[in-house]
Amino acid sequence: MSGHGDPVPMIARKSAALKGVAEVPGDKSISHRALILGALSVGKTEITGLLEGQDVLDTAKAMRAFGATVTQHGPGAWTVEGVGVGGFAEPEQVIDCGNSGTGVRLIMGCMATSPITATFTGDASLRKRPMGRVTDPIALFGAQSYGRRGGRLPMTIVGAPDPVPVTYTVPMPSAQVKSAVLLAGLNAPGQTVVIEKEATRDHTERMLRGFGAEISVEETPEGRVITLQGQPELTGQTVAVPRDPSSAAFPVCAALIVPGSEIFVPGVSQNPTRNGLFTTLVEMGADIAFENPREEGGEPVADLRVRYSALKGIEVPPERAASMIDEYPVLSVVAACATGTTVMRGVKELRVKESDRIDAMARGLEACGVSIEEDQDTLIVHGLGAGNVPGGATCATHIDHRIAMSFLVLGLAAQQPISVDDGSPIATSFPVFEDLMRGLGAQIKRA
Ligand code: S3P
Repeated sequence: MSGHGDPVPMIARKSAALKGVAEVPGDKSISHRALILGALSVGKTEITGLLEGQDVLDTAKAMRAFGATVTQHGPGAWTVEGVGVGGFAEPEQVIDCGNSGTGVRLIMGCMATSPITATFTGDASLRKRPMGRVTDPIALFGAQSYGRRGGRLPMTIVGAPDPVPVTYTVPMPSAQVKSAVLLAGLNAPGQTVVIEKEATRDHTERMLRGFGAEISVEETPEGRVITLQGQPELTGQTVAVPRDPSSAAFPVCAALIVPGSEIFVPGVSQNPTRNGLFTTLVEMGADIAFENPREEGGEPVADLRVRYSALKGIEVPPERAASMIDEYPVLSVVAACATGTTVMRGVKELRVKESDRIDAMARGLEACGVSIEEDQDTLIVHGLGAGNVPGGATCATHIDHRIAMSFLVLGLAAQQPISVDDGSPIATSFPVFEDLMRGLGAQIKRA
C-alpha cells in the first residue's frame, strides 16, 4: 500500500535579492490530462514539457495498468499509444495514485463506464480525502463503488457494463469532479451534460476538443453548461504542455517579498480559469510585467517580469477563488508581508486539499508570529509589512507540497529562519523547486 517515505526537514533563511530566470516545470493539470486522453485515444500522442512530478508519474503508471503504452523518450518528452474510448483493460493490481487527488478522481471517472473493476489507493493524505464527490455522479452512469467509511480510499469501482448518459450539476466548484463526469461520459451513448455554477479550470474541455470530441460550452444564467457527445473516436495528438502557473506562484511570490529582487518567469499560462493569483497580486500593488503575450499549446501564456514590491492587504473577491484555489497558501504568505489585512472568503474547498490548507496555514503563520482569523470558509491574515514577520518556527506540512513551499518562501523574508517538518512532498508537483530557488539566490536547504 502507498506510503510516503522518510520526512525531509528543510529550512529557509532571510535571503539577499533574488535574481535570474525561473523556468518552472510543466502544468500538472494539463500533464495528467495529456496522459489520460492519450490513453483514451487511438494512435500515438506525443507530449513535450510533461511535468515529471510524482503525481503525474503515478498517472502514467496507472495508464499502463489500464492497457496504454506510455514511454519516456527524454526529459519531458513522452508518447502514449492509446487503447481508444471504451478500450481500457482491467488492471491486475491496485492502482496507487500516491498523493494525487486529480489522478485518482479523473481515472475513476474514465474507467467508470467500462465493464471492468479497479481498486484505488493512495498515500496517507489521499486516503483522507473525499471520493464521494466522484462516486455520486459515476453512480448515475451505473458504476458502483465500495470504499472505506466517508467515501475514503482504498476504494473499488465496478464500471457500468451498460452506461447511460447523465446530466449533472456539480455541487462544489471542482474541476476534478467536472472532469471525472466528462471522462465517464466519453464511453456512455448519447449526450452527457455537466453544469458548473462557477467556472473552474477548463483544460479538460479544451483538450477533449483538441483530441476530436464533440463538446460545446454555453454560458447561461445557471452557469456553464458543457455538453459532450458520447462514444467519439479520439485520435492521438501532439501536446506541448505550458509551464504551471501554480508552480510559478512560488518564485513570483518570493521575488515580491524579498527586497531588491527582480526575476523573469517565462511562458506562464494566463488561462483565465487559472490566473486569479496574478490579478490579486497586482491589486495588492505587485510590480509584475506581463510580457510577450502569446498562445502556446492551446493556452494563452506570457513571460512575467517580477520586482520586489511594497504590498498592501486587500479583500480577495470570493468569486475569484476557483481561478486561484491552489494559490491561497502562498498568497497568505505574501499577505503576512504586506501592510494591512488580507481577507480570503469563499475558500472552504481548501479544507479538502492535500491537507486542510486553512488550518495548516493558520497554525504555521501563528507559529511565525503572524496573527490570523479563520472560520470554516475564510482565512484573514493581518499583515506585518515587509521585513517584519518574526519567523523562527518549524511548520507542519501534513504531506502537502504547497504548504511546504509556502513556508519556505516565507522563510526567505522573515527575520528568523523558518523550517518545515517535511519537504519531501514538493516532489509531487515541483521536483526542481530547491535547485530553481537556490539558482535565484534563495537560501533554502535540507535541514
Ligand atoms: C485540479 C483541480 C483542483 C486543484 C487541483 C488540480 C485539476 O482541484 O486544486 O490541484 O487538475 O482538475 P478541485 O477539483 O478539487 O478543485
